Amino acid sequence: MLYPELFKSLEEVRWEMSRDIPWDSFDASKLTDEQAQTIKMNAITEWSALPATEMFLRDNHDDSDFSAFMSVWFYEEQKHSLVLMEYLRRYRPALVPSEAELDAVRFPFDPAPALETLMLHFCGEIRLNHWYRRAAEWHTEPVIKHIYKLISQDEARHGGAYLRYMKKALGELGDSARAAFAKIGVLMASARRTEKPLHPTNLHVNEALFPNDTVQSRLPDPGWLERWLDTQIKFDSEWEGKVVERILHNMSLLFERTFSSAQDLNRYRKEITQRIALGAAQALPAVVAPVAAGNVR
Ligand SMILES: [Fe+2]
Ligand SMILES: [Fe+2]
Repeated sequence: MLYPELFKSLEEVRWEMSRDIPWDSFDASKLTDEQAQTIKMNAITEWSALPATEMFLRDNHDDSDFSAFMSVWFYEEQKHSLVLMEYLRRYRPALVPSEAELDAVRFPFDPAPALETLMLHFCGEIRLNHWYRRAAEWHTEPVIKHIYKLISQDEARHGGAYLRYMKKALGELGDSARAAFAKIGVLMASARRTEKPLHPTNLHVNEALFPNDTVQSRLPDPGWLERWLDTQIKFDSEWEGKVVERILHNMSLLFERTFSSAQDLNRYRKEITQRIALGAAQALPAVVAPVAAGNVR
């Protein structure tokens, strides 16, 4: 069980909203309305950890260890939303999200394969870590710069915790877990900035609500994410390359093989799916033979 150890390690590095945010350093001359608007959108997006937690608990009902870890993840993500809202409450109260705006991102996600979802969120944490690092650079007001740095470090740790659960699944399930992680890894490491940003909050998750079934589509400003990335924090190909490099680095650690490109990882994925198909084909005669023998008799 990983939960006790993860709880302890995350508790040791936990920051406190009253103690660790330099609220006294706020400099009103360095915060623009445009910047404050993006803080509001990030606060609402972070709130969507609520439906994501509901999904995780439902789809991992047979995994008490992972479900227990959700308590830590959920707490920290809601705290991200809260610290951004607290910043707005102090310095731009008109931009604090309303409860209706927060409620709008709480909607049911369709059931999904647990391993694929785990890998998707692992990649999402890596991506968000990089987005927030860029946001910390783009912002000019010192308190919000500090906040984005803090929450970007939390996102990296979340990715690390998910990776531990992926390693555990690999030990328990072998190739079926390898195939699931490699499949999503190839998709996530192939993203180009010309395509739509690949983050869990930007993916369709409820067929009945389509097309309004991404978290981003339910924000007060649904076009915000792409604008934030392209024209505000300028998440360019160099930054995108860093995300891909981190995903491939971690896949190399997980699968104990070096991947320097999404194509490398895709070749590995094909190997695994072939091995699964071969294993199934070899197992077939053993299963079929007794049945056939029975029919003859
Ligand atoms: Fe977060
Ligand atoms: Fe996170």
